[in-house]
Amino acid sequence: MNIKDLFIDFFKKKGHTQIPSAPLVPENDPSVLFNTAGMQPLIPYLMGEIHPSGNRLCDYQKCLRLTDLEEVGDTTHHTFFEMLGNWSLGSYFKKESIEYSFEFLTNVLKIPVDRLAVSVFKGSEKIPCDEESANVWNSLGIPKERIAYLGMEDNFWAAGETGPCGSDTEIFYWRSNDEIPVAFDPEDDRWVEIWNNVFMEYDRKSDGSISFLPKKNVDTGMGYERIVSVIEGVHDNYESSIWKDIIALIEQITNLTYSGNEKSMRIIADHLRTSVFIAADPAGIVPSNTDQGYILRRLIRRAIRHAKKLNIDINSDWEEQIAKKIMSQYEHYYPELMEKRDIVLTILKEEKQKFNRTLEKGLKEFEKIVSKKEAIDGITAFHLYDTYGFPIELTIELASERNIVVDEIGFQEKMKEHQEKSRTAAAGKFKGGLAGDGQMETKYHTTTHLLNAALKEILGSNTHQRGSNITAERMRFDFNCDHKLTEEEKEKVENLVNFWIQEGLEVTKEEMTKQKALEIGAEAMFIEKYPDIVNVYKIGTISKEICGGPHIKNTKELGTFKIKKEEASSAGVRRIKAVLE
Ligand code: ALA
Repeated sequence: MNIKDLFIDFFKKKGHTQIPSAPLVPENDPSVLFNTAGMQPLIPYLMGEIHPSGNRLCDYQKCLRLTDLEEVGDTTHHTFFEMLGNWSLGSYFKKESIEYSFEFLTNVLKIPVDRLAVSVFKGSEKIPCDEESANVWNSLGIPKERIAYLGMEDNFWAAGETGPCGSDTEIFYWRSNDEIPVAFDPEDDRWVEIWNNVFMEYDRKSDGSISFLPKKNVDTGMGYERIVSVIEGVHDNYESSIWKDIIALIEQITNLTYSGNEKSMRIIADHLRTSVFIAADPAGIVPSNTDQGYILRRLIRRAIRHAKKLNIDINSDWEEQIAKKIMSQYEHYYPELMEKRDIVLTILKEEKQKFNRTLEKGLKEFEKIVSKKEAIDGITAFHLYDTYGFPIELTIELASERNIVVDEIGFQEKMKEHQEKSRTAAAGKFKGGLAGDGQMETKYHTTTHLLNAALKEILGSNTHQRGSNITAERMRFDFNCDHKLTEEEKEKVENLVNFWIQEGLEVTKEEMTKQKALEIGAEAMFIEKYPDIVNVYKIGTISKEICGGPHIKNTKELGTFKIKKEEASSAGVRRIKAVLE
């Protein structure tokens, strides 16, 4: 049985409810590009909100970390990965959490106790030493010499600078054929971390102060690719059952062996897997030059460059074959891969064709440049980007293979200049009355604030926005609500929004500290994620929201608001689709 299934089964038996993996692109949190941990979609619940599925949860979550992007190519790093997690939202705490982890590892996965070691928090000025966890471990049979006491940098976990956090206990596995030492040495990298149990009881504020959360929570995370390779006894993750077939296919396509070509094959495998998952995400990401779209572009282009290194005929359907294999391997757990299959394949193919048109010439140009220069200046790097579609990271990678440096700062300056020029051009177009999508989207954006305020008025003040999505044609708005809206409620909401539109309310912006914004009762989806100074948009006296804008100046510009559909989005969350006519 797959470890994902074993994990979910185990925690279900311990009274947990399985929740689905949230999308890779956070639906309600603009401060991060991708979910980097299983707990990310659960932040509001760790902060105290009631989760509709109860106070014991488990899942396997799609995650993506960009911090390790450059490391991909070695035996352990990946961009996309899956995280197995279980949570207690004020239910159990340290004792049960540690007991569950121990039972799962030793009873279900049958890991000998002798191969395990743990670390616990040694305490800081503000937070006491975690003797409680050490005692529980000891009572389960982990000897004292195998329990290390470490500080903030090792045994305190937080997703970001602010928000829910706490001390943690980490579980290590002896991944070596060498004799197992009696004592645990955290510096010895033959001990690999396999599971992290965070005891989230604190809320860290932007001024660094720490207060207690309303409840004591547990947040655990176990990297799936790591535990699989540990259980299968391989020392290179890419030799585990997760990657075996994908690497074998790359060997077949290239007619080369993995041995001797590991780096490029790992990069192709990893980057295409991540690209498949980004392209299949409900957020509808396509390759572009900003945000998630840029990451997708970079990953695909880097995979193509390494395919070229292995002499793959780029024009063949190599990427399609690999993507299909990846999808067939994962679609049982992530049905969206099945639904988005054609979209994913088209995105990969079109990006490949686009890059392929300039890649050859770009590489020749690159050769010409490095034959004459000791270093690549910003203007040249920008030229490679602008004319040949080389992401700056690709230029840096190519250059570093020859021990040549790139003036990245110079590149960023050129890039900024270029962006400013395009913005001015776009603004000119706007002024000339040729406003395209931007204006409609701005209108819908302001309308989300009106809708948010109207829902609060009609359904109760604890109704909050859970997400939104805007195109030039329509708006989508998610909010917490425990029932399907009645016809009457829908009508009242619609009428109220239209009433405010007709009143011609001024939309004003004010800059203030986050603290002040909270004091005046401004709406905010994820207050802990905002910077210290925020913009608050007010609409007449009926709405105050922390928001980045842009907005229209007066509600009378909006036309008529019409609700087209009201439906369930996820448990406890409803979705309204609406238009301006
Ligand atoms: N959120 C914790 C981690 O990512 C479990 O390590």
